[in-house]
Amino acid sequence: MSAAMRNPAAKPETADGPVVAVRDLRAWYRLRLFGVDREVKAVDGITFEVRKDEIYGLAGESSSGKSTLVKTIAGAMRPPLEIVGGEIQFSFMDGTMGLNRAPADLVERVRWRHLSYVMQGSMSVLNPVRRIGTSFFDFAFRHMGLDKAGFEAAVVAHLARVNLPASVLKAYPHELSGGMRQRVTIALATICRPQFIIADEPTTALDVVVQKDVLAMFRSIQREMASSVLFVTHDMGVHAHLTDRLGIMYAGRLVEEARTPDVFARPRHPYTRHLIHSLPRIGDDRPRSGLEGTPPSLANPPSGCRFHPRCAFATERCRVEVPPMEQVAPDHRVACFEKDRVEATP
Ligand SMILES: Nc1ncnc2c1ncn2[C@@H]1O[C@H](COP(=O)(O)OP(=O)(O)O)[C@@H](O)[C@H]1O
Ligand SMILES: [Mg+2]
Repeated sequence: MSAAMRNPAAKPETADGPVVAVRDLRAWYRLRLFGVDREVKAVDGITFEVRKDEIYGLAGESSSGKSTLVKTIAGAMRPPLEIVGGEIQFSFMDGTMGLNRAPADLVERVRWRHLSYVMQGSMSVLNPVRRIGTSFFDFAFRHMGLDKAGFEAAVVAHLARVNLPASVLKAYPHELSGGMRQRVTIALATICRPQFIIADEPTTALDVVVQKDVLAMFRSIQREMASSVLFVTHDMGVHAHLTDRLGIMYAGRLVEEARTPDVFARPRHPYTRHLIHSLPRIGDDRPRSGLEGTPPSLANPPSGCRFHPRCAFATERCRVEVPPMEQVAPDHRVACFEKDRVEATP
């Protein structure tokens, strides 16, 4: 048995290491259309870590590769998506390929218990023809080490934490409101107290009031369990309220990363600035600065900095060279050749 196949539970936890370290990860959709090969470079050289006991946010407009990145980390890739390069290292298992080349039995042991993944689209994990209670049983029973009565009591107690009555266990998914379904999904993802929770746009389909509730609940569960969360949303307002650190994606790459308050107070990348300035503010009805142009094709991305065709600060160098992520302050990285000029511009 190779080192990577050892029981994940047998690996001692390192005190302060990250729960996941992603290095130069590239994951592409490899398509063949009308006899022509096409590669959609949805994740193209991403390096970041999620630390113990933090909520790390991923932001960026639609199609920037957020879902592809978290799918790859969660080991939920399907063809034509492939890992083309890089590493994914978890604190709770050996090896540097994450879950993607791990044998099925190891993936089974890790899922839900060490890592849980709330996919984009709240219904996806809930089987429409099975009662909610059956889904809980299927996902969590074997991980909890309880007898049936003990298990049911634990599920009911956990549902209460997310403000759901025990009666939902008898319901089918379609009998619940969107907000209740999303709470069920979050309860499922957290009941085994995993060290690492990945949630992809978990509140995007909810109305604003329900969204606030679900976010508050997310935060309180994370605090109580001291787990790490990778939280994806294109909604910068949600990031401002919920996340501890924030990574900004543009066209398959990370362009900036900092503690969330610093992203909002001192954005250094022109794209981050655009995201922040386009947030609506109460009492301010000046027109928002729009961004010229359209997001690039990931099958044929622009040379150099992928943002350069839309960037007011772009120079010749930006068209040619790829800007590396560089540290500009503690916990603050940015990939922009013009970052000093950006900062000096009001
Ligand atoms: N199954 C697929 N086959 C081919 N391309 C895909 C597939 N899924 C997503 N993509 C492409 O990958 C890019 C990134 O998509 P995605 O990761 O869903 O972005 P986001 O979550 O930021 O909206 C987009 O260009 C999208 O069209
Ligand atoms: Mg997405």
